[in-house]
Amino acid sequence: MKSERMTSFSQSTRKGCLAIVLAAGEGTRMKSARPKVLHEVAGRSMLGHVLAGVTEAGADQVAVVIGPDRADVSAEASRMVPGAQVFTQTQRLGTAHAVLAAREALAKGAQTLLVVFADTPLIRPQTYGALLDALAQGAGVAVLGFEARDPTGYGRLLSEGGELTAIREHKDANEAERKVTLCNAGLMAINGAQALSWLERIGNDNAQKEFYLTDIVSVARTSGAHAVAVIAPEDEVMGVNDRLQLAAAEAAYQTRLRDHAMREGATLVAPQTIFFSHDTQLGRDVVVEPGVIFGTGVRVGDGARINAYSHLLGATIEAGASVGPFARLRPGAKIGKGAKIGNFVEIKSAEIGEGAAVSHLTYLGDATIGARANIGAGTITCNYDGFDKFRTVIGEGAFIGSNSALVAPVTIGDGAYVGSGSVITKDVAPDALAVARGRQIAKEGWGKSFRASHEGKPKQRP
Ligand code: UD1
Ligand code: CA
Repeated sequence: MKSERMTSFSQSTRKGCLAIVLAAGEGTRMKSARPKVLHEVAGRSMLGHVLAGVTEAGADQVAVVIGPDRADVSAEASRMVPGAQVFTQTQRLGTAHAVLAAREALAKGAQTLLVVFADTPLIRPQTYGALLDALAQGAGVAVLGFEARDPTGYGRLLSEGGELTAIREHKDANEAERKVTLCNAGLMAINGAQALSWLERIGNDNAQKEFYLTDIVSVARTSGAHAVAVIAPEDEVMGVNDRLQLAAAEAAYQTRLRDHAMREGATLVAPQTIFFSHDTQLGRDVVVEPGVIFGTGVRVGDGARINAYSHLLGATIEAGASVGPFARLRPGAKIGKGAKIGNFVEIKSAEIGEGAAVSHLTYLGDATIGARANIGAGTITCNYDGFDKFRTVIGEGAFIGSNSALVAPVTIGDGAYVGSGSVITKDVAPDALAVARGRQIAKEGWGKSFRASHEGKPKQRP
């Protein structure tokens, strides 16, 4: 068997590479109202992963083949790749038939064609690149293969004298062929000049009466072209048909993200307890304690620390800041350099200035907090009146006493103080002290006389 090792991979655009992404799967085994390819792995749809992969590998045209009435899949394709062409396969007559649904894109004459499945989300861009490299080295067809622990159900890569000769679908394979463990992952690169004529020669004389894309290997060889297999690890070619496989893909991808974070210089105290999104960015010397969950859109600067059991989504944390334990950062939270966000603090659409401290039990929403301000325990920005949201602005070095409610819109000036337990409804001038709470009164001996007036009375149980 002739197989190419993964070669070095150039990020440069591969001129004239058309990627056709098959996304017409019904996904009935997902038992979902959502089409299978829109289910997510690490915060991005499986279709999104595949589109990002082929684009990163350098495909400069993308066509997506979807099932009938799938505006949602079409929208996701356009969101990921604005220039993507979307085609509908009205009848599911096999993988070759699905590719031909994009005939119009094919007919424009791409140099190379990459055919990929949208339910195989873990393929690395380098692997797509290796398939294209195999074409550059003269192959007419390059198929992605893997050694299957259990080959049942997969197409088998058959060879003769070191040449890939055919792919035999499990249902069509004889006893000897079923013993082959080198399997077809489903994706391939095809010489663009010949792809259309080869695809048109594929018939459906097989067990499933389907037009198999895999038959392109024998068709290409009949016309004198060579076929090769590029081998990938099995965990990369994992396909998703049900929710168990979705969870397995998620687990494999999380392992990849954790390994990447650590290789790039972040300390993950207990890596298997930390969950990333596909786009999480961590700087050098970031420390992440156990149980932290990163939703999408989070960036953490160098040397910052994310303490245990914090939940972050759409947040930016600048260098040297510390967050948590048990903090919740929601979209638009921007934590400045060296700032401190402590336990049971929730922050949404709020900028926290450099070196500011929000140490405990606080909600800051729609706010701007100046550098070095101190926000006491239990501070709440009252930002919503049931209809609209309003902003709270707190100046540099201001001090908000514990258990204060700041009723927005409101501004606290630089260096101002707010007394504990205040309900602040009016702006506070710089360097002023505002106290907005009931004045304390004290009645000498009141307790004693109260008890005396109740002398001998039985106490109700509390
Ligand atoms: C396919 C391969 C098999 C390989 C396996 C890897 C073929 C004929 N067989 O088998 O060799 O080992 O993948 O997982 O290619 N699709 C359409 N329209 C169709 C049929 C399929 O869009 O008419 C899409 C499906 O949504 C799916 C992909 O093509 O994303 C593969 O189709 P599927 O029927 O799952 O092929 P397998 O039997 O798994
Ligand atoms: Ca499949």
